[in-house]
Amino acid sequence: MGAVREFPYSFIDRVIIPETDIRTRVQALGEQITRDFQDSDRLLLLGLLRGSVVFLTDLMREIRRPITMDFMSVSSYSKSQSSGFVRIDSDHKTNIRGWDVILIDDIVDSGFTLRTIRKLLLDREPRSLKICALLDKPERHKVDIPIDYLGFSIPDYFVVGYGLDYDEKGRNLPYIASIDLKKGED
Ligand code: IMP
Ligand code: MG
Repeated sequence: MGAVREFPYSFIDRVIIPETDIRTRVQALGEQITRDFQDSDRLLLLGLLRGSVVFLTDLMREIRRPITMDFMSVSSYSKSQSSGFVRIDSDHKTNIRGWDVILIDDIVDSGFTLRTIRKLLLDREPRSLKICALLDKPERHKVDIPIDYLGFSIPDYFVVGYGLDYDEKGRNLPYIASIDLKKGED
């Protein structure tokens, strides 16, 4: 019976952030956002697909304000190297003009993705625009990006779980784990 509870990903190295720590942190972020948007009835959580989905859906249940959610799908032109070119595969549906928007992503690496999308959204004249990320790898930043709500800062590991993937795998892990590519070869 034990085996069916295990996640069959051979590339997992070790757990960096356990499930309980994520839950506690997400609750605190939800409380902070609830306080900060006490006067807002037009709060939009705008998630970047697909990495932010698990984080966003947990976070929204910790925000005690009326909220709307929407999504954008974006990808970097270059897979392995952060190129700075970000392609919009699918845009959000809501007109954000006059809305308080919180842009949500799973992780800030080079910072190019959030910088690009932030600029684009500002042109659409939201009332306010904040950035929220579950994880940040400060050592990897190539551009400055203001993160208003951050879950955790981590060292320069490649991580999976809680929405983040390695080659589309590992998103369903309830914790954040580092990966070992040598283990992933089988
Ligand atoms: P940036 O534009 O370089 O900041 O890239 C951010 C995007 O790269 C994130 O939204 C993730 O999709 C992906 N990414 C960066 N680091 C990791 C990681 O450690 N695990 C999984 N995805 C990552
Ligand atoms: Mg992403």
